[in-house]
Amino acid sequence: MSADKRAELAGGPTGLPRHIAVIMDGNGRWAKMRGMPRTAGHSAGADSFRRAARYCQKLGVEYLTVYAFSTENWKRPREEVEGIMALLEKYLRQALRDMDKEQIRICIFGDLTPFSPKLRQMCAACMEKSAGYTGGQVNICLNYGGRDEIVRAAKRWAAAGCPELTEDVFGGYMWGGHIPDPDLLIRPGGEKRISNFLLWELAYTEMYFSDVLWPDFDEKEFDKAIAAFRERNRRFGDVQ
Ligand code: IPE
Ligand code: IPE
Ligand code: MG
Repeated sequence: MSADKRAELAGGPTGLPRHIAVIMDGNGRWAKMRGMPRTAGHSAGADSFRRAARYCQKLGVEYLTVYAFSTENWKRPREEVEGIMALLEKYLRQALRDMDKEQIRICIFGDLTPFSPKLRQMCAACMEKSAGYTGGQVNICLNYGGRDEIVRAAKRWAAAGCPELTEDVFGGYMWGGHIPDPDLLIRPGGEKRISNFLLWELAYTEMYFSDVLWPDFDEKEFDKAIAAFRERNRRFGDVQ
């Protein structure tokens, strides 16, 4: 990317977001519109995710947190859940192969207990292998729920012997520990809701909703979202 393009995206009152969160929604409808099975939509969604991770790295966004599978998504038909698990395995295998080149640190947020031993082992290998990488961080939320994260944080705090509690201390028990909260939340796919994503961390995040379905949410759409973010006046409760 040219220095001009980067400066253009980073300029404006709010600058370039350090942390972008994405609810990767609309895969099923994308497939349906094409007369394809929903799993084909998830496969296109996985491609879109890889492209997004590379683009955010190129822009210099330090953290990208994506919602890939919620604690509620288990309600879906068995074939769809199995299809998503197979795609996850495929993604992790490729990531393990290519990650040295990309230098993106991968973290998984969510309780992996219900996943197959193979998937869990691949998740652990990805996190371990990329732990020292410095080319940005991608957090993949799997079997993730915002309420579950808060309850889990409370349990971890209690297990640690109930240390003096502040917002900062409690935030440290979330999956991401002390990483900065998202500056920008993007929800493609037309819905205007949070669907149990990052309930604690989104306190002052700017929201961007788009009707574009996730598999079609390309670099141009990211540029639009960032341009909209740059126009926002973040007051954090203050007057300005
Ligand atoms: C998001 O796309 C992917 C997951 C929830 C796993 P959807 O599958 O929810 O797509 P739509 O909303 O049905 O179009
Ligand atoms: C949110 O999308 C979860 C993910 C994108 C992983 P959903 O499609 O599950 O959300 P709802 O059901 O429309 O709220
Ligand atoms: Mg959906």
